[in-house]
Amino acid sequence: MTLQFDNPPADPVPALEAWVQAAWTESNVPNPNAMTLCTVDAHGAPHARIVLLKHFDDEGAVFFTNRQSAKGEQLSADARVALVLHWDHMGRQVRIEGTASAVSDEQSDAYFASRHPESRLGAWASQQSQPCASRDVLLQQLEAARAACDTPDNPARPPHWGGYRVSLDVIEFWQDGEHRLHDRMRYVRDGDTWQSTRLQP
Ligand SMILES: Cc1cc2nc3c(=O)[nH]c(=O)nc-3n(C[C@H](O)[C@H](O)[C@H](O)COP(=O)(O)O)c2cc1C
Repeated sequence: MTLQFDNPPADPVPALEAWVQAAWTESNVPNPNAMTLCTVDAHGAPHARIVLLKHFDDEGAVFFTNRQSAKGEQLSADARVALVLHWDHMGRQVRIEGTASAVSDEQSDAYFASRHPESRLGAWASQQSQPCASRDVLLQQLEAARAACDTPDNPARPPHWGGYRVSLDVIEFWQDGEHRLHDRMRYVRDGDTWQSTRLQP
């Protein structure tokens, strides 16, 4: 779907779904669901890193992580986040701003169960964002997690691991244009409706 910048839809979510689907299905690039997640810490300092978009709908954009990680700590202090998706091969960027909240245990369990058992053990083994003395130490932690697990072929989800859903409060579409005269359309949610503003590139 090509977003009609001259005739923007009232609701940007179907257009965003179409862009996400197109990027996922029409490309051979690795990780077309990679997105930059920007959080702020308790002092207001920004921190950015890549996470994978695993689910997307009207309610928001979902990613999974260790909730005791640096990003998890930051989200506890300030739930406001910014996301950026970039599909270079399609000349497209999407910016999202919203608030992160934990997804249900059921949704976290379902996604966790779809991961490879070794990745599930890794979620137990890694204290994400904490100092690591060496790779050997990390591997020892993995073996300790395996030994401690009743069902190492089918590890359960650690309580500190799960998903966050980022609400869609602001969505900006960016489409590459000739001679850098790109198209931009910014939508701001206003209750049940959206206000759209075309922006200069
Ligand atoms: C392509 C790619 C995908 C990634 N996906 C995730 C992810 O879905 N969840 C996650 O916690 N970290 C993911 N990471 C690692 C994060 O970028 C980051 O290193 C990690 O989450 C720790 O961040 P923090 O210390 O700020 O919490 C990914 C990294 C890359 C390069």
